[in-house]
Amino acid sequence: MKIAFYDAKPYDKVWFDRLAPEFGYKIKYIESRLTIDNCILAKNYDAVCVFVNDKVTAEVIDELHAMGVQAILLRCAGYNNVDFKAAFEKIYIMRVAAYSPYAVAEYASALLLSVNRKIHRAYSRTRDYNFNINGLMGMDLHGKTAGIIGTGRIGQIMIDILRGYGMHIIAYDLFPPKDPSFEMVSLERLWAESDVISLHCPLTPETKHLVNAESLSQMKPSAILINTSRGGLIDTAALNEAVKNRQIMGVGLDVYEEEDEYFFEDRSNDILEDEALIRLMSFPNVLVTSHQAFFTAEAMEAIARTTLENLKRLENGEYLENEICYHCGLQGTCDRHKNRKNCFELKKADE
Ligand code: NAI
Repeated sequence: MKIAFYDAKPYDKVWFDRLAPEFGYKIKYIESRLTIDNCILAKNYDAVCVFVNDKVTAEVIDELHAMGVQAILLRCAGYNNVDFKAAFEKIYIMRVAAYSPYAVAEYASALLLSVNRKIHRAYSRTRDYNFNINGLMGMDLHGKTAGIIGTGRIGQIMIDILRGYGMHIIAYDLFPPKDPSFEMVSLERLWAESDVISLHCPLTPETKHLVNAESLSQMKPSAILINTSRGGLIDTAALNEAVKNRQIMGVGLDVYEEEDEYFFEDRSNDILEDEALIRLMSFPNVLVTSHQAFFTAEAMEAIARTTLENLKRLENGEYLENEICYHCGLQGTCDRHKNRKNCFELKKADE
C-alpha cells in the first residue's frame, strides 16, 4: 500500500523510513498540511497520514474518497481536527490512541515545575550573567492540592507524578473511573480548591472553553494552570484578562487554540499577527511551548509503528481497534469494541 504523508517534518521521516520497509509500505512525504487544494497529491494512494493541525473537513474527505483513498491515518491521539461523521461509510479514520502517556504527563509536570520555580526566566538570566534571583520565588508543591481534569491514561500518570511531590489530588471526569484512588469532585470544587490545575481531557463541543472567564474567576489567585491537552479547552481572551488582572499565579501551555497558524513552524522571521498569542507570551508568568509534550524518542517510534500497524490491519481485513468510531464519537461509548466490529460494520449490524 502507498501512503501520502502530509505535514511531514524531518523527525517524522526518521521513524517512518526506519519502519515502513518492515510493513512493505511506500511513503510520499509532503511538507504542506492537508487542504482541499493539495488533496490531489494523494491520487493513486491508499492512505493519507496527517497530524494534529491538518484540517480533515467533510470537503477534504469527499475529495479523498472520490480518489479512492481508503484510510486516514492520524499520527496522534486527539481527533478534534477530523469530521469523522463525514467520513462514516466512506473512509476509515484511525489514530494512535496511546504512544507514550508518560511523555505527555512528564512534560506537564516539567511545565508545572518551570512555571512555579521560574526556571525559564532563570535560564535567560544566567545566560546573560545575571545571577540575581529577585522575582523567581515559587511555592512548595508538597502539601498543596492538584486538580486533574480528565483521568484517562495521561491524567492518571500525572496524578502518580504529583503524588510523588506530596500533593493531594482531586479530579473531575465526565466518565469517572471505577474505584479511583483519588477524590472525584465537581468542577466548581476543583476550580475553587486547586493550587494546581492540569487539563487532560479531549477537546469536544462540551469541553470547548472549559476554562473561561467564569471558571477563572473561581480559581485561587495563587493557582497555576497547565494545559498539555488541546488549546480550545481554554478561552484565550479570558485567560489573558485573568493574567492581566492578577487572578492567576502562573500558566504553562503546550497548546494554544489558534496554534495551527504557528506551532511546529519557524516563524522567527515573520511579524506575528496573532494579538492574543503575543499578549499571552508577553507575561512573565506564562510559559508557552509549541505542542511538544509528546516528543520523545519512545513516543515517536510508537507513533510510527502503530500508524503502520493500523493500515496493516485494514489491509488484512482485521478488526480496527484504533478506528475512530462515528458511534463512539457521538455517544462516548458503543459496543463496537466488545463485538470486535469496525464502525461501518456496526452500522450494518445495527440495521
Ligand atoms: P484518554 O482518552 O485516555 O483520557 C481522556 C479522559 O478525559 C477520559 O478519562 C475521559 O473520560 C475524559 N473526558 C472525556 N470528556 C470529558 C469531559 N467533557 N470532561 C472531563 N473529562 C472528560 O486520553 P489521554 O491519552 O489521557 O489524552 C488526553 C488528551 O491529551 C488527548 O485528548 C489529547 O488532546 C491530549 N494530548 C496532547 C499531547 C501533546 O503533545 N500535547 C499528546 C497526546 C495527547
